[in-house]
Amino acid sequence: MKGSYNVAVLPGDGIGPEVTKQGLKVLDAVSDVLGLTFERDVLPWSSEYYLDTGKILDDDAFDVLKKYDAIFLGALGNPKVPDTVTTGMLVGIRFALDQYINLRPVKGYKGVPSYFSHVQPEDIDFCVVRENSEGEYTNAGGRFKCGTENEIAIQTAIFTRKGTERAMKFAFELAKERKSKGISQKPCVTSCTKSNALGHSMVFWDTVFEEVSQRYPEIENRKAMVDAITMWFIKNPKDFDVVVASNLFGDIITDLAAMLQGGLGYAAGGNINPERITPSMFEPIHGSAPKYAGKNTANPIASIMSVKMMLDHLGETKAADKIECAVKGAIADGEIKSRDIGGTTSTEEAGDIVCKRIYAQEV
Ligand code: IPM
Ligand code: MG
Repeated sequence: MKGSYNVAVLPGDGIGPEVTKQGLKVLDAVSDVLGLTFERDVLPWSSEYYLDTGKILDDDAFDVLKKYDAIFLGALGNPKVPDTVTTGMLVGIRFALDQYINLRPVKGYKGVPSYFSHVQPEDIDFCVVRENSEGEYTNAGGRFKCGTENEIAIQTAIFTRKGTERAMKFAFELAKERKSKGISQKPCVTSCTKSNALGHSMVFWDTVFEEVSQRYPEIENRKAMVDAITMWFIKNPKDFDVVVASNLFGDIITDLAAMLQGGLGYAAGGNINPERITPSMFEPIHGSAPKYAGKNTANPIASIMSVKMMLDHLGETKAADKIECAVKGAIADGEIKSRDIGGTTSTEEAGDIVCKRIYAQEV
């Protein structure tokens, strides 16, 4: 915690710029109230930049990004640009900056109905720790005999001991922290696996999980197959505290988990380098939603809550708590009812309401 920071802002594509604007507005409000300084540079790398220049990132982009304390990203994706290009940018940053954890909190908000009618907001409070530096996303493989009837495609998932172990260690440390803060009723790390079918990668994953869990006797550990976890998330969401998953499984189950919360508009995330050697990157987990771009209708809560995660990561917990309190209060009191849940609050209005609440808070 040093009070003064520099942040790289990548508004990106579609609704990215408008939700990012609200996140920054809220960052300004909380900085103003607490006397923090956030210098920021808005960087142009996006699909538009690619369409103009033929490149989505400048050649020195990773070196440029490394100079910041944190990165704040809107969203990437544009129908005019191949997915491999935008994904290349997103996953490229995650890999190059060794943001090896993708932390995705799944938390219900009083006032936001779950997509599942039996689920109440207070039933939802867990975190998915997604391994973010290897697994199925390494793009190792190739295509051969292209265009012939003998065409072959190979996509190899890569799991290293270092990569697997550090993700699991992070998950147990997080469970310990949640336990010490009294957040979890039943402190537990659940490993999302598929060792009944993937006899190499996931059996290895299970072995490492067993080893790491032995170092944390005070935290319960469980194993759930990825297919079964989708069912248990819906049936018994209260049973989850921290879930650790591989890159691809983590990607899939967090979209489902967002529906428990009330939709992707509420799902924040952080791509984290826990050792703080390189900057971490915070982003709402929703995409660029091109059809809603520029309409001032998108829900900015995920983006605003990503700012909250950024502040937590930087050690500015007081500022983070203020944002969470303002967001929760505004939603619970019905002041913010986003359009994705049938309300009428615009993107700008939601940001303004959160700011107003921050200024009105007593401490
Ligand atoms: C996410 C997204 C990305 C991912 C895509 C856009 C490559 O779905 O951040 O969850 O798969 O990681
Ligand atoms: Mg995803």
